[in-house]
Amino acid sequence: KIKPVILSGGSGSRLWPLSRSKYPKQFLPLLGSKSLFAQTLERVGVDYGFDMPLVVANEHHRFIVNEQAEKVGISMPQILLEPLGRNTAPAIAAATLLAAKDDPEALLLFLPSDHVIMDTPGFHKAVKKAAVAAAAGHLCCFGMAPTRAETGYGYIAAGSPLDGCDGTFRVDAFKEKPDAATAQAYLDAGTYSWNSGMFLFRADVILDEFRRHQAEMLAATEKALAGAREDLNFLRMAEADFGAVPAESIDYAIMEPTDKAAVVPAEFGWSDVGSFTALADVQKADASGNVTYGDVMLEDTSDSFIHQGDGMLVATLGVKDLIVVTSDDAVLVADKSRDQDVKKIVDRLKGAG
Ligand code: GDD
Ligand code: MG
Repeated sequence: KIKPVILSGGSGSRLWPLSRSKYPKQFLPLLGSKSLFAQTLERVGVDYGFDMPLVVANEHHRFIVNEQAEKVGISMPQILLEPLGRNTAPAIAAATLLAAKDDPEALLLFLPSDHVIMDTPGFHKAVKKAAVAAAAGHLCCFGMAPTRAETGYGYIAAGSPLDGCDGTFRVDAFKEKPDAATAQAYLDAGTYSWNSGMFLFRADVILDEFRRHQAEMLAATEKALAGAREDLNFLRMAEADFGAVPAESIDYAIMEPTDKAAVVPAEFGWSDVGSFTALADVQKADASGNVTYGDVMLEDTSDSFIHQGDGMLVATLGVKDLIVVTSDDAVLVADKSRDQDVKKIVDRLKGAG
């Protein structure tokens, strides 16, 4: 059985003012009536043969996690809570240490809580392939066909096919978040795929890799986990301990330096819905290219994303390529080409306290 581990620590700042640190992107019903987090849980349900999932989340969101899991019929025996974010590598190390207590060779499928997958059977097929390679000792990731020179993703150069692992390739190089020129060169080369941010590892294998490449991080995480206390179905690590763990993403910490990486090239209608344009891309646009939500009135408006999130009517006239998002206490008006920079506004708001 494969054990899903759902990483839910991000704050989705490029989707402000919909996404808030108290109630971030993954918990919002951005597409359909269920949140991306709930959809992620359903995709790896026990009905499909998966083991009970483990969620790693920020402690501020602990009741949201319980409530949303219960809504999709899952009563989680344990949720691992971080007092603060240390990025994905410590979250993965902590979850692996915890799961390894039950089964040192557990197959762990790490999933972001905030991605969209349109083709669930296709996703399951890719996971099955990766499980074979992971059981054989490889660190598996999933390669998506790139469509633009995106600098916010990891890039994977696939090498030779893995013996005995159908549809799986050795990774020749893993390059996290290249600069624009490098990303363009990778795209032009036509031999790179995007890292989807999902991983399948065997617990003992990834722990060995942490020991080799991130010994200090692993030791600090072990200490934080040893000092964690149980409270309801929460396992809470102390701020002083977990705060001492070096912050780094799994991509830089392990996937770049390791020589054990393997990739399953796959296509399952994936999007990380990282920005408003990405959110618009996975929805049906009207004849003028607009994606709208709520009470809006458009006049001579094209290729825009208009989201009405409170009682006010939103009307637009004679504009194109705009993002307009209203909520009960903030309104965002942005040029579509600046969708990545919404983060800057959030950073400024945080700076202002
Ligand atoms: N529990 C926990 N703790 N989860 C976290 C933390 C943390 O400190 N930080 C991030 N996460 C969760 C996020 O909620 C998200 O679901 C996932 O881990 C990935 O983190 P991101 O911060 O969104 O990573 P990224 O988008 O910059 O890059 C990753 O994803 C890309 C694809 O979307 C990398 O894996 C890239 O290589 C990849 O291309
Ligand atoms: Mg992301």
